[in-house]
Amino acid sequence: MSQASNPKSEIKIAVIGAGNCFSALYQGFTYYKDSTESDIPGVMFADIGGYRPSDIKVVAVYDVDARKVGKPTGEAIFAEPNCARVFAPNVPDGPIVQMGHVLDGMSDYMQQQPAHVGFRVSDAKPVDMVKSLKESGADLLVNYLPVGSQQATEFYAQAAIDANIAFLNCIPVFIASDPKWEQKFIDAKLPIIGDDMRSQLGASVLSQVLQELAFDRGMVVDFHQQLNIGGNTDFNNMMVQSRLESKKKSKENVIRAQNDLRGIEVPKDSLFAGPSTFLPYLKDNKVAYFNIRLRGFGDAPVTIDAKLSVQDSENSAGVVIDAIRYLKVAKELGVVGALRGPSAWTQKTPPEQMMYADAKLECEALAKRQLTASVKRQLV
Ligand SMILES: NC(=O)c1ccc[n+]([C@@H]2O[C@H](COP(=O)([O-])OP(=O)(O)OC[C@H]3O[C@@H](n4cnc5c(N)ncnc54)[C@H](O)[C@@H]3O)[C@@H](O)[C@H]2O)c1
Repeated sequence: MSQASNPKSEIKIAVIGAGNCFSALYQGFTYYKDSTESDIPGVMFADIGGYRPSDIKVVAVYDVDARKVGKPTGEAIFAEPNCARVFAPNVPDGPIVQMGHVLDGMSDYMQQQPAHVGFRVSDAKPVDMVKSLKESGADLLVNYLPVGSQQATEFYAQAAIDANIAFLNCIPVFIASDPKWEQKFIDAKLPIIGDDMRSQLGASVLSQVLQELAFDRGMVVDFHQQLNIGGNTDFNNMMVQSRLESKKKSKENVIRAQNDLRGIEVPKDSLFAGPSTFLPYLKDNKVAYFNIRLRGFGDAPVTIDAKLSVQDSENSAGVVIDAIRYLKVAKELGVVGALRGPSAWTQKTPPEQMMYADAKLECEALAKRQLTASVKRQLV
């Protein structure tokens, strides 16, 4: 298939979950709407296949919280329990938030929490998802459900397939990395990116590059710990241990992958990466503590102790604003299934883990609409 020329059109997105991550992303569309620079400060790629952040348009939003459903998007993103920083207060109203399907999206624990840190289910009637997605004209659906929403994620992923639109799975429910689900997207001739966003400069990418550096310098990694604390809704939701399993697995996948790619075994009990507790005072400030114990020349011990402090939701929007554009460009080029490079670059559990530099090269190529060997294998 020949490379498509820059179509200069909009990218229409539908979104599941008007929580903190979407609040940051939606504010970002206003914050960057007039940017014309060839490098936009704070954004990794100003131009991806001819698309700039300002080309993204939100056409449908779905939630199930009584304080968000029925409200304009521009109001819903600032409703409790959202606590993301307000950096672009004058956002447009946008579409009215429609009632999604609750399924396992809201745990009993979150519904029993105080209103400012918990969920409250709306009694509105759920929409016909496939019909609504088709009518919206969306190119792709972004999944921002709470961790542990297995049934709900599968329901919305199937709705995306039935509505013939691409899927961006930002959460640790394994869809893009599950060959059965990937095949469904291939059969439908649709691209997908997933699973579980890796933030712009977050704990995962820092763990990855520190460990890659250690391996490149011939060190032995005896122990790698990454403790995360935060005060947003996501951290509160993850206080339910049964919902947490996939998140911990996904976070550890990033670190494990660096061993697997080099054929180095991870020593027993030598790895911990995951959310550790919920501290409401922190709101959307996430703090990660790293302790990496290494051995170098002559078995000499080397220890790295580091602390990373970020705004969790903006940090995630910094990759989603790119992932949306990779999906659109891939769709135009006829690339189907789970996008290897963009998934490895923007997600913690991609279908195929890559070294940092390799994932970046794949993304840079797609941003120029160039088809690398791995992408050519995925053309329809
Ligand atoms: N840096 C980051 O913040 C980061 C990084 C990686 C992954 N993630 C993941 O992204 C997801 C979203 O994070 P967040 O901080 O926005 O969470 P959040 O809890 O603030 O938002 C979740 C939203 O989903 C809504 N919801 C719940 N069940 C629903 C359903 N069945 N249908 C439609 N909407 C439903 C909730 O009402 C809420 O508005 C989480 O799974 C999180 O783990 C976040």
